[in-house]
Amino acid sequence: MYVEHSAVRDSPDRLTDPIMTEITAIVLAAGKGSRMKSAKPKVLHEIAHLAMLGHVLDVAGKLGAHRTVLVAAPAMTGVEAYARTRAHNLDVAIQTQPLGTADAVKAALPFVPGKGVVLILFGDTPLLREETLQALVRTCAEEADIAVLGFEAADPTGYGRLVLDWEERLTHIVEHKDAREDERGIRLCNGGAMAVKAEHLAALIGEVGNDNAAGEFYLPDIVAIAHKHDLKALVVRGLEEEVLGVNSRIDLAEAEAVFQRRARNKAMEEGVTLLDPQSVYFATDTRLGRDVVIGQNVVFGPGVTIADNVTIRPFSHIEGASVAAGAIVGPFARLRPGAEIGADAHIGNFVEIKKAVVETGAKINHLSYIGDARVGAGANIGAGTITCNYDGFNKHLTDIGAGAFIGSNSALVAPVKIGDGAYIGSGSVITRDVTPDALAVARGKQIERAGWASAFRAKNEKKGGE
Ligand code: UD1
Ligand code: MG
Repeated sequence: MYVEHSAVRDSPDRLTDPIMTEITAIVLAAGKGSRMKSAKPKVLHEIAHLAMLGHVLDVAGKLGAHRTVLVAAPAMTGVEAYARTRAHNLDVAIQTQPLGTADAVKAALPFVPGKGVVLILFGDTPLLREETLQALVRTCAEEADIAVLGFEAADPTGYGRLVLDWEERLTHIVEHKDAREDERGIRLCNGGAMAVKAEHLAALIGEVGNDNAAGEFYLPDIVAIAHKHDLKALVVRGLEEEVLGVNSRIDLAEAEAVFQRRARNKAMEEGVTLLDPQSVYFATDTRLGRDVVIGQNVVFGPGVTIADNVTIRPFSHIEGASVAAGAIVGPFARLRPGAEIGADAHIGNFVEIKKAVVETGAKINHLSYIGDARVGAGANIGAGTITCNYDGFNKHLTDIGAGAFIGSNSALVAPVKIGDGAYIGSGSVITRDVTPDALAVARGKQIERAGWASAFRAKNEKKGGE
């Protein structure tokens, strides 16, 4: 029997019902990943600013996995440390040699309890959707001993083929390398995620041999072993795009594109207008309110929260920042980590904000750098204002009071405090605190010599005629 994906999606009750079983996730990440040509372990390469491994651990967590066992190789610096930041109740098993996917699962067995369902995932398959895995676990828990994630491959080359009997039970999986010509014609393939009743896992893995074209211990072989012991294996279908396994930088770019397309669609479904969806790039953790309008060519780095009714105009780059309701950002704005833009504030073109709180209704509309600062409510920061926050050793704070008016092309040399409602004359270099409601001007005084220009011209024109 196939559990059709659409059937799962059409019954929301079934989706939200808790799965009444203990789930243990095993994440395989001990493969060499040599095709990435990288000093960094493959699973730490990022999709939308989150390591692939993070995507996999997150989906296991969302699914309600009670514990996660990560299988890593001995030399994988950083993988374990990273995983610990991303999953609680994590055990790390070391597979000493990459002898195949069944051998990797064997390394995890000491950490796997004897009850519930074990969900086996690949660390390099970052796009699996929660609802698909939920269907997989549920099918295993309620209808079978093993549930395998299958998909119809446009080009099945390289994948394991799923072989079904007349009752549409899965009898075995044959790897591409080992498949006969007729088996290679099967387009239903192994997507690489599998749910197995915990009580059977160790015995099944124990029977896997390595007498095959690759000389590896294949995890998919547990299906034929289960069949032999009269255990039941079923297929749950997913989409081809979600089983995409990343082996190269080209695959990584493809996975990124899939992620971005999904993120754009999700944003629009939730009430965000994207004027040119293909040119907007989200991070995994981008949070957007309702009635946000995002212009063309906007890039979100990690850690961004945008509230309702915000407009982000074209060509803005935003990371580690929050923008409160009704604010307008851009075009060509750069919000860096620690930028907190208040409600109805305006951040205009060629403005860079770093670690600064811009309070309600403040305006910084043109060509400014505001870093390590507070800009009080309703303050107006003129074109070309710079907070001089760094002396080569330390960063210092600029505090601009509510309703202050900073004239164009001013340099505010921190630490410095501009009082509420104060005015700063254009072109000032402000090095001392300014009291509230005062005017401070710190620039050369203007002088004038009547008739100087005409006299100068007359003198030079006479010379030129000689
Ligand atoms: C596997 C499946 C294949 C399926 C395909 C889907 C096997 C034998 N084949 O093939 O049926 O169609 O995925 O993408 O399982 N790993 C280890 N230790 C090892 C070997 C692999 O941890 O000794 C990890 C890898 O890091 C990777 C995952 O297991 O995350 C899958 O290994 P990979 O070599 O990519 O398997 P495929 O050849 O893609
Ligand atoms: Mg693979």
